[in-house]
Amino acid sequence: MPKKTLGLEKELYDYFLSASLREPEILFKLRQETASHPRAMMQIAPEQGQFMALLVQLIGAKKTLEVGVFTGYSSLSVALALPADGTILACDISEEYTAIARRYWQQAGVADKIELRLAPAVETLDGLLAANAAKTFDFAFIDGDKENYDAYYERCLQLVRPGGLIAIDNVLWSGRVADPLVQDESTQAIRAFNEKLHHDERVTVSLVPIADGLTLALKRNIGV
Ligand SMILES: C[S@@+](CC[C@H](N)C(=O)[O-])C[C@H]1O[C@@H](n2cnc3c(N)ncnc32)[C@H](O)[C@@H]1O
Repeated sequence: MPKKTLGLEKELYDYFLSASLREPEILFKLRQETASHPRAMMQIAPEQGQFMALLVQLIGAKKTLEVGVFTGYSSLSVALALPADGTILACDISEEYTAIARRYWQQAGVADKIELRLAPAVETLDGLLAANAAKTFDFAFIDGDKENYDAYYERCLQLVRPGGLIAIDNVLWSGRVADPLVQDESTQAIRAFNEKLHHDERVTVSLVPIADGLTLALKRNIGV
């Protein structure tokens, strides 16, 4: 999971960031702290955080979902872009990773917008569906374990309203999806997922080659 947008040489990537990144100080600090974490490569790129902040503003999102919090960069990017009454239901299984996220949510003054559910995300999403939360979310970000992407997507598709947006991360998987020699479980799951979305008539899609690849799926009004 590279931190830089695939396909941009370093000089152009540096220019891209210097010419366009508007990273709030608190997100910069979180990125700096996470850089020394052994799993630092799981964090989304700063330009992707900025892009997702723009997306939630663009669709006027208030009620949002996240699968895969880690140290909180994506959730904090979204929380800062939401209106005062906006919310994020954030799913993860790691107390350790999300303790860092919670600290930054507090420091940024957005902790009251974010409800963290520490449980396998499939269980949390199924719980929301059982509690009649279908079609109530405006935006969902999927960035959890890759083997469950399809399970997350199918549940999020029910949970977002028609016109709601689902963003799915790492769909280019550092280029491994295009290498036929790579056949591990995660890569195969992402390939199968990309193939499915390509033909999924329930959504309007675009695979945006930002960072590690972000697919945007806009739910059509087809009664799902
Ligand atoms: C790629 S990281 C998320 C990065 C994060 N979006 C960010 O901006 O830094 C994936 C996260 O998914 C979590 N995860 C793994 N399996 C999970 C599961 N079954 N349910 C919920 N979260 C899971 C991991 O603990 C990890 O924090």
